[in-house]
Amino acid sequence: MTAFETRALLKQLEATVEDNLDRHLASAEDWLPHEYVPWSEGRNFAALGGEPWSAGQSRLAPAARAALELNLLTEDNLPSYHAELVNTFGRKGAWGTWVNRWTAEEGRHASCIRDYLLVTRGTDPERLEQARMATLQAGWDSGDKPLLHSCAYVSFQELATRVSHRNTGRCCADPVAERLLARIAMDENLHMIFYRNVVQAALEIAPSPTLRAIADEVAGFVMPGSVVPGFARRAVRVAQAGIYDLRIHHDDVIMPLVRHWGIFEAEGLDADGERAREDLAAALGALDARAARFVERRAEAQAAQP
Ligand SMILES: [Fe+2]
Ligand SMILES: [Fe+2]
Repeated sequence: MTAFETRALLKQLEATVEDNLDRHLASAEDWLPHEYVPWSEGRNFAALGGEPWSAGQSRLAPAARAALELNLLTEDNLPSYHAELVNTFGRKGAWGTWVNRWTAEEGRHASCIRDYLLVTRGTDPERLEQARMATLQAGWDSGDKPLLHSCAYVSFQELATRVSHRNTGRCCADPVAERLLARIAMDENLHMIFYRNVVQAALEIAPSPTLRAIADEVAGFVMPGSVVPGFARRAVRVAQAGIYDLRIHHDDVIMPLVRHWGIFEAEGLDADGERAREDLAAALGALDARAARFVERRAEAQAAQP
């Protein structure tokens, strides 16, 4: 898609963005992050004469801690995501208003997860800060995705973060953490709906290029947290615990959106659209097969444990 075509498409989608911005603002509840943090549990660390952090102070299971840290560090990288959205959607009109509103909402996710972890001594604050610095310095570069690819990607990614926060909350075995993460997941759900509706409109305006974008993004999906130091190790731990794994990615993230968009029911596609749909079917099949293998191996490993 040329720069001229992209600008035209941004313009064509503007009315949908405007409608969805209004819908979003009407349905998004204002909530206060400080009301979700158990401040009375907090105490000074060593530099202020308090007790240094040690692993035994955390009440979280190792998998819950790994998931919370990974979610937090992923949220921390917001400046890069903001820059990406500005590059793709611009600063003007409804698109620009959405980017700033979205950024403001996302900003509270990292701050209250960090507050929760520090106050409850849920993680090593020194290592967390080192990882945050490394993550932000690595930044997040989607490789200048074209507009439709970005819209498809963020639809999947927002749903992935919703599922990940929600499942992390359940794994924490702490009602305070569960309440906090359920609250954040509600924000992510509204973000997903916004992008899902934009993609829906794009499917009507430009079906074949939108299908191509969806197929490419399913085939090449990479979590934004992949730049977090030790991502592979952290992701394995989170997958082993069933918080976020390939089965969940396929069943609870990719398929609900593919079904919602009615991709396999669409009629009258041109040759490029049909090819994109075939590629999407192949990518879904491959993902499903990988998910099945992963679940099988995980069950075998668990059965082998004493
Ligand atoms: Fe978020
Ligand atoms: Fe979000």
